[in-house]
Order: sequence, then C-alpha cells, then structure tokens
Amino acid sequence: MGCCQYFAPTEGGADSFTVEMPRITFGRGTLAEIGERARSRGIGRAALFTDPYLSGGPHVAAVKASLAGAGIDVAVFSEVQIEPGDAAVMNATAFLNEGRFDGIVSVGGGSVMDTAKAAMVYHLHPADFLAYFAPPAGGGVPVPGPVLPHIACPTTSGTGSETTGLAVIRIDELNTKFVIASRHILPEEAIVDPACTDSLPGMVVASSGFDLMSHAIECYTARAYTRWAKIANAGARPMIQGANPWSDLHAREALRIVGAYLERGVADASDSEARDQLMWGATLAGMAFGNCGTHLPHAFSYAISHLVKKWRARDYPDGKGPFVPHGISVILNSPSVFRFTAQAAPERHLEAADCLGADIRGAAPEDAGEVVAGRIIGLMKNTGIPNGIGEIGFSEDDAPALAESASRQRRAIGNAPRDLDTADIAGIFATAVNYW
Ligand SMILES: [Fe+2]
Repeated sequence: MGCCQYFAPTEGGADSFTVEMPRITFGRGTLAEIGERARSRGIGRAALFTDPYLSGGPHVAAVKASLAGAGIDVAVFSEVQIEPGDAAVMNATAFLNEGRFDGIVSVGGGSVMDTAKAAMVYHLHPADFLAYFAPPAGGGVPVPGPVLPHIACPTTSGTGSETTGLAVIRIDELNTKFVIASRHILPEEAIVDPACTDSLPGMVVASSGFDLMSHAIECYTARAYTRWAKIANAGARPMIQGANPWSDLHAREALRIVGAYLERGVADASDSEARDQLMWGATLAGMAFGNCGTHLPHAFSYAISHLVKKWRARDYPDGKGPFVPHGISVILNSPSVFRFTAQAAPERHLEAADCLGADIRGAAPEDAGEVVAGRIIGLMKNTGIPNGIGEIGFSEDDAPALAESASRQRRAIGNAPRDLDTADIAGIFATAVNYW
C-alpha cells in the first residue's frame, strides 16, 4: 500500500507529471479583494460573467463594488445558462468580441466559469466550434495560445473549475457534454469566498458536495500516471494525466472533509463551519482533478443527464424539461462504478473509503468495492439523493443506450484503473438502477 508502489515505473510509461495552478485566495469576505487583485493584473476593463439568478444578488454586487472602487470599468454578461451548449458559448463570445475587454471576472458555479473559459478561446482564437474538443467528438486541436486574465469566484462548493484548465460544454448536435482542456484556460486567480454558499438550498449543497467527493475519489483511484504512455514532448502532456502524488495529497483531504461535513452542510444552512469546510474541499478536489483528470463516474454522468426523460431536481431554479444536476448524475452511477473498478486497485479504494469515514478494519482487498460503495450509499441516503438511476426514470433496458452515449468519453474512460468495453459499461449502468 502507499503512493510509491502505485506509481511504480512501467515499460514505456510516463516518468513525470506537471502541476498547473492559479493563485488562490480563500476565506469569508474575500470577494471584496477582487478590485485590487484585478488592478494588480493590469485589468482596466473587465467582462463580469454570471447567471440570471446571481446577477441581482449580493455576491455580484460585492464584486462590482470592489471593481468600481479600484477604478475598473465593468460590463456584465448575465446570460449564462445552466449546462451551456454551443449557442450559449457563441453568444458569450459575441459579447467579448464587442467589448474590448482586457480581463474576465466570473462569479458563479461551473456553468459560469466554463462559459467564460470557452468564450475566451473562441474570442481570441476563432475556429470551428468542435475544433478544440477531444476526439471523437472534436478535432483535438490544442488551444493555440493564452486568453485573457481570468479571476474566477465560485459560488457553489463542488465544481472546482476555478482551479482547472478544463471547460465542460454541451455539444447540442451530439446531445452530450465534452471537455476543452488546456493550460491556457486555467484562471490566473481564484477567489474562494465560502460566504457565497450560505444561502444555498440543501439539495444544491448535496449535489455539489457529491461532485467534489467524486472528483476526489476518482482522482485517488485513477490510473497511475506511470501507466499512461510517456510523451515525446513536454507541450503535449495532457491535463488528464492520471493519478499522481499531487492529486493524491488533495484528494485524501477532500475526502476527509466530505466524510466529516457533507451531511451537516446539507442539513443546516446555518452550519457555517460545515459549509466553509465543503468549500475548501471543493477547492482541494479541483486542484486534484485539474492535474489528474476524472474517470468513469464523470464520463458516465453525461449520458445520464442527457438521456433523462422527465425527472427534475428540487431546489433548482424553475425551468422547463428534465434536469439532473451534475453532481447527482455523477453520484448515481458511482457505487456501481467503484464495485467494478475496485479489483484493479483495491488498496486505493479502501484508503478512499477510510478517508470518507468508513470502518475498514478487517476489510480484505476483495471487499474494497463493497466497502467504498457502502459508504457512498450511506451518504446518499442521508442527504436525500435518489436511489439510483431507476428513481430518475431509467431501467435496465436503458443500459445499452446509456453505455453507447458514455463510451464516447474516451480519455476519461482511459483514466480508469481497470480496462473496460461497452458491454462492461452497460453492466455498470444496469447495476446502478437502485441501491437500497
Ligand atoms: Fe464534476
């Protein structure tokens, strides 16, 4: 057991990894620092990205006041959609094209930050929309160069997008989400103010908390970086590079935080200790997956969120049609995934369960999948999460279609510790229908 053994050299495998990070400021009230931060970056005219629900609220007001106090001119783009697609990104790109901005500030969840990242790419490096996405959906073209300085301010404790060079965008034509990954879209600064989460409803905290939990556990159980092929030149090293000592460090602590504070943070909006801890956990998990990559639960979540027919989560803004929040689409398949992957890295799965607060005394390697799945299921039950994909309208009969959709996420699937084919994926969905 232990990091050195997991990262043992392999024939032809990578022998190095890269860590990419923004400057991070964490603490209550730190949104008020943004004006000074932006000025020190040389920003004189900023585009402020947010969404329609946050735009009239206190967090955006605090940011605007701080920027104005620093003498920075601001124009607000508040048309960000939840789970942005092509049209939403191109709308944001048009806003940037017209505004003569020299910096970006984003205030919101993953949809806001990812829209800002992607729009900057198309603003400064125009191309066919699919060019920068990974194959098979996209052209696999590297983002050619830097974008604008970006200060990201998350308002939910899950996404971690403020610390990553990843943007998750829906490609409408293919009816699922894919990732633009580049060090060029890593924000220069993250200002993480946990007071932003004080007013979040319990289901939003639960969904985002499971998102952060899954970022952490997926990193901890990901294929070791030494099992990815050695690259020929440093510039080609992908951000999804596999588990490494840096991602381990942050994943373990993020899992401890989720194990100790998730139920408290969901149950009681006034429990500021729990909500602060979850926000820090989200930041840590972002630092992990931004330098490792997620694997199967995230790869499979996109199929769930886009093939769901009717179900809509409570506590989210009114809207038409079905909607499965990202963290819920991730966690609904996770217990089934970890039961499958545990045999390839049982010690890692047991260590992750231990960090989450499971009792692993006496557990044998062959118990690892059941131990980690059991702990996750316990947390799901205690926080009001649906009982598997069956509760949101899927049955075993849907497993082949879900598997076909999910199998397009090749790089993330390749980051799993165990090899699998489309039949295996269908089997994982079929055993995710209900858990209790
Ligand atoms: Fe996520």
